[in-house]
Amino acid sequence: MEHYDVVIVGSGHSGAQAAIALRQAGHEEPILMISRDRNPPYERPPLSKEYLAGEKPFEKILIRPEQFWADRNVTLRLGCNVNEVDWMRHVLTLSDDSSLSYRKLIWAGGGDARRLDCPGADLAGIHTIRNRRDTDTLKSELAAGARRAVVVGGGYIGLEGAAVLRKLGCEVMVVEMQDRLLARVAGPDISDFYLAEHRAQGVEVRLETGVDRIEGDGEKVTGVTLSTGETIACEIVIVGIGIVPSVGPLIAAGAAGSNGVDVDTYGRTSLDDIYAIGDCAAHPNPYADNAVIRLESVQNANDMASVAAKSIMGERESYDAVPWFWSNQYDLRLQTVGISNGYDQAVLRGTPSDRKFSLIYLREGRVIALDCVNNTRDYAQGRKLVANGAEIDPDLLADTEIALKEMG
Ligand code: NAI
Repeated sequence: MEHYDVVIVGSGHSGAQAAIALRQAGHEEPILMISRDRNPPYERPPLSKEYLAGEKPFEKILIRPEQFWADRNVTLRLGCNVNEVDWMRHVLTLSDDSSLSYRKLIWAGGGDARRLDCPGADLAGIHTIRNRRDTDTLKSELAAGARRAVVVGGGYIGLEGAAVLRKLGCEVMVVEMQDRLLARVAGPDISDFYLAEHRAQGVEVRLETGVDRIEGDGEKVTGVTLSTGETIACEIVIVGIGIVPSVGPLIAAGAAGSNGVDVDTYGRTSLDDIYAIGDCAAHPNPYADNAVIRLESVQNANDMASVAAKSIMGERESYDAVPWFWSNQYDLRLQTVGISNGYDQAVLRGTPSDRKFSLIYLREGRVIALDCVNNTRDYAQGRKLVANGAEIDPDLLADTEIALKEMG
């Protein structure tokens, strides 16, 4: 049976970074990276931005040039699924029926885009945006003349997709179940701002609205019937309603976890010699009061990968990275630092109509997060306030005459 010292399952940001971090830490034994994706590791954020817009070719979004992996003795087994994990024997069974053994396993499985569960949900013309193939298929339909799109979900995927499609000249409607956009990740002031911006750009936004049915001609989408009973004609549906963590074989093997797979502060699952990192890993996060959470971000993927790699190399470093995130829509750059969940006060710093402002979240008087729109200075300086849990008078935080770095 083939044997590898470390097997990494998944070739997203966390999987790729795990291999890079191991080599940087002096790991020299053979590493195998297994992925369902058929491409060498590439960046995901551009899939709903520059890559969708046709502004960046695929080669420009590779995490490393293809040769990098071979040069470092990282074997890529692409287009292949892990079906079974035997943690006691340290053996994996793959979708091609082969088996292999490992000393340490890093599960970087990420998540699969959640799909609609309604009549018509399997018609052609319905798209998710999670991997290269998704975006390539969407691009080819746009190139073939599709011009009307309904976007289901007003989260990051939905809104970034809507912004690109508007730029490409499509008619776009966004349908969001909650009473505001970005409800999972941002405060109401940010939601209101993005609602106004999308509407000003010509996107029709329906809040507190779901999808009852996708209409089709037996093969392709022709429209979407909303929970209001109205049918919107379209050729394209983009579904951005979150992800389902991809951890099936680990849970089947007995790993603890209910929302993804549970890990400790070093990225270790409850199964011997198996780590989990990135979107699928529920970990205690110091920036969420050590609550066990999953974070779906590039930052979390990279930083958890480094922690797991160090642990494998015998270095005990707890996961303690300040969370950060960004989203580009039109000419707006939203940058987030910290985790705003559980805030009890939000301070507006600046004026949204200037299209440059920040929203600062506090809990019990301490700064826990910032959402900064076109305001990289606040974002950069606010990081320290979040890291230190700084206690600052809200009136002072709101005063744009005083730089945040003067406050912490
Ligand atoms: P999301 O969870 O951020 O947003 C999903 C939205 O869809 C929510 O607002 C939810 O209320 C709504 N929704 C759910 N079911 C619905 C239904 N049946 N009808 C209407 N609305 C419904 O997930 P999203 O946007 O799909 O993003 C997926 C992942 O990709 C996340 O991990 C996200 O963080 C990541 N991402 C990161 C980006 C970045 O780096 N800037 C860009 C885009 C996505």
